[in-house]
Amino acid sequence: MLAAYAASQSADDPISGLQVGEQPDPEPRAGWSVVTLRAAALNHHDLFSLQGVGLPADRLPMVLGCDGAGVDEDGNEVVVHSVVPSEGWMGDETLDPRRTLLSERYAGTLAERVAVPSRNLVPKPAELSWQHAACLPTSWLTAYKMLFSNAGVSPGATVLVQGAGGGVATAAVQLGSAAGLRMWVTSRDEAKRARAVELGAEQAFESGARLPERVDAVLETVGAATWSHSMKSLKPGGTVVVAGATSGDPSRMEINRIFFTQLRVVGSTMGTRDELERLVRFVTERKIEPVVDSVLPLGDVRTGLEKMAAGDLFGKVVLTMG
Ligand SMILES: NC(=O)c1ccc[n+]([C@@H]2O[C@H](COP(=O)([O-])OP(=O)(O)OC[C@H]3O[C@@H](n4cnc5c(N)ncnc54)[C@H](OP(=O)(O)O)[C@@H]3O)[C@@H](O)[C@H]2O)c1
Repeated sequence: MLAAYAASQSADDPISGLQVGEQPDPEPRAGWSVVTLRAAALNHHDLFSLQGVGLPADRLPMVLGCDGAGVDEDGNEVVVHSVVPSEGWMGDETLDPRRTLLSERYAGTLAERVAVPSRNLVPKPAELSWQHAACLPTSWLTAYKMLFSNAGVSPGATVLVQGAGGGVATAAVQLGSAAGLRMWVTSRDEAKRARAVELGAEQAFESGARLPERVDAVLETVGAATWSHSMKSLKPGGTVVVAGATSGDPSRMEINRIFFTQLRVVGSTMGTRDELERLVRFVTERKIEPVVDSVLPLGDVRTGLEKMAAGDLFGKVVLTMG
């Protein structure tokens, strides 16, 4: 089958290790299903894999991709949940220390077919398009859990999202505004600030700018470049939900500010299959269309990864198969 895979890894030039070509079809396994993919989407995770972060070199070649939607062996239209727990794990799979995401131990979704535990299949409503369905399992699920399980906010509260253009950030703005939260964003880029407002953000600020008032919660995925601003922007007792650090670990954690103003720092990773099912329902019923930066055939995956590496994105890059 045709697939996009990591053939080698480089911290400085990750895309040099990308290959698009033939890879073995998934092997049938008891309790697993093979999905013929109709669309997939890129995540920063794919670049990290090509850099050697989270993917040991002895697992290469590895088919990339965490996001996908397609048709299972019985003809059902499905969205693929990417979190694979270890054998025998019970309960919240995101708490399993030995869980993996597709493309870490098992082949990923940037391919014509993918094998996943049958439990990981979530029904795709007919009215949800393939392209939009493929956007949901990773950055959208992450944003959903950050906002609705971990931020501790209710409608009317103000939530700041750092870095307007990323997949998690655009999802958070669309989901939060649909749920009645007052969404504020920061971005280094004026055009991205304007687009975030079109998407539902109430206000958009230059990265690092002083806000008109402190916020109830901050969603943080940028890391070093924005951490200090996140800490200063929170109300006493406010919550920062952290799900990534694209620009690296902050050099100052601001511990004094954290205890003195009683901030809550909450880590958040992906979401459960049940949360993905609720997200799919919410997006479909509210007619929320995930913002898509570009749609490319699988063979053009390099173009999408180059845009992501350059930070030149607004929303998701979707890949189509066939
Ligand atoms: N924990 C999880 O389960 C999970 C799931 C999904 C993603 N993540 C992580 O979340 C992060 C975001 O991923 P993503 O795919 O949404 O998008 P992304 O491509 O990593 O971009 C996110 C945004 O970060 C901002 N940014 C990047 N470098 C910056 C810098 N040096 N200074 C200021 N802003 C900077 C940019 O905003 P502007 O250009 O608008 O300023 C960009 O739009 C990644 O680190 C990813 O690994 C974690």
